[in-house]
Amino acid sequence: MYKKLQAGSSTSAVTIVGVYKGTTRVPASLKDIDQTHKGALATALGRKSFRAEAGDLTETADDSLLVLGLGEEDAMTPRSLRLLGARLLRGLDRRKIAAASLDFITMLPEELGNEETTSQAVAEGIGLANWRIDFFDGSARERNDVLASLRLSAPSKPGMRGLQRGLTLAESTNYARRIAATPPNICNPTFMAQEARRLAKAQSLKCTVISFAEAKKRGMGGIVNVGQASTHKPCLIQLEYTPARTAKKAKGETIVLVGKTITYDTGGYSLKISNGMKGMKYDKCGGMAVLGAMHAIATLKLPIRVIALLPTAENMLAGDAYRPDDIITMHNGVSVEVTNTDAEGRLVLADALAYACKSLKPTAIIDLATLTGGVVVALGSWCAGMWCNDDRLIDTLLDAAEATGERLWELPLWPDHRDFMRARHADVWNSGPKRDGHPIQGAAFLSYFVDKDIPWARLDIAGVARVESETDICTTGPTGFGVRLLIDALERMC
Ligand code: BES
Ligand code: ZN
Ligand code: ZN
Repeated sequence: MYKKLQAGSSTSAVTIVGVYKGTTRVPASLKDIDQTHKGALATALGRKSFRAEAGDLTETADDSLLVLGLGEEDAMTPRSLRLLGARLLRGLDRRKIAAASLDFITMLPEELGNEETTSQAVAEGIGLANWRIDFFDGSARERNDVLASLRLSAPSKPGMRGLQRGLTLAESTNYARRIAATPPNICNPTFMAQEARRLAKAQSLKCTVISFAEAKKRGMGGIVNVGQASTHKPCLIQLEYTPARTAKKAKGETIVLVGKTITYDTGGYSLKISNGMKGMKYDKCGGMAVLGAMHAIATLKLPIRVIALLPTAENMLAGDAYRPDDIITMHNGVSVEVTNTDAEGRLVLADALAYACKSLKPTAIIDLATLTGGVVVALGSWCAGMWCNDDRLIDTLLDAAEATGERLWELPLWPDHRDFMRARHADVWNSGPKRDGHPIQGAAFLSYFVDKDIPWARLDIAGVARVESETDICTTGPTGFGVRLLIDALERMC
């Protein structure tokens, strides 16, 4: 693992060329390079042990030249480029290389995109794979040597731009992952508000926090009730980004991003049983995706106005905790019969959505939440569930999902689903008496808090917010899902 990744050229950079699987002779496009390196490439390709599977990296007789396997040519996709980047990072790390020129980027098939987009994908893979949770390593941990930095370059200007963008996006994603991994004894609602203020200061965003007392005054029954049993009181965090220059297409637009930020979900009196509570520090990952996106929006100076809302609370048990059977009133006056205190995410989101509609004049809203275990059962960790009332927004998000590899699958929300959420003793209940289709119930419930004429998309990221076993790109823990997706979608709106 490197401490720092940078895009920039270096005279001591090792050149990385690429060959497809099964290449045993120097391809015409690499003849010059082979000559410059005195036939080192030809010798390396002649070795039987090098099969050029995607990500295989091999030495040549010349220290300044490495060969990267690209795998099968027709199997390459933007997705496999990220994987390639991740595997390359491991190869460079193992060899303690401090600077590399990624010449193989110029050789990739045109169908994969231009040099900027392909470089970006490779750099994203490199940046995401270079992340570990090591900030809680104590005295019992043997330290591996951490290399200071890796400088990456590409042979063209668009290539360099792509590398820079890819590293920036990975950095914002890794920032989201770091806060997501911060344990609940440290990361509580107060910590979240402080972190948002710190980010605002560093990135010139405007941060305002609606405190517990203020939330009570404003009738935010969801945030207040879910969070009141914790020592660390709930709040609603708002981060505002106003661009110096607005894109023509984005004039008059205000996009509101909302992220469920439950710093810990015990379930409350509807207590999570067996091992169901373990890992619930990740119940803030919707908010962390939004926070990471704000980091990237400010760094990349996106020409569109964006406001982030993070309703944050810790769902705990105490004498003053809310109960199943309580009836509470939300920010927009809708009354809710609490049938299950473990369906808390929708309660805090409801207030944030109602507040957005009432006070922020949004032209579109996107919310992200680790809302239901049901979506994990339905879609696994392959994609997030999506609900959306606007065809254009659906297309934008699906295109962004395709481009970033952060996949989405649309699920239905019909009037029948909304009717199902009508309660006996209040307007709606937060969870129906039957668990049928409960990810859809979450979306149906939330639809009572968004004005009908506002384009609104909601993503249930419970299955994709973390991985339980290591992959090439992602170590065990939070994935930062949503950061790259949101940026890509926002850029399509500019
Ligand atoms: N935070 C959970 C959802 C969750 C479960 C996320 C597993 C990640 C992994 C959420 O607050 C919750 O408890 N949802 C309930 C909803 C039910 C009470 C309607 C669930 O999924 O069981
Ligand atoms: Zn819950
Ligand atoms: Zn939850």
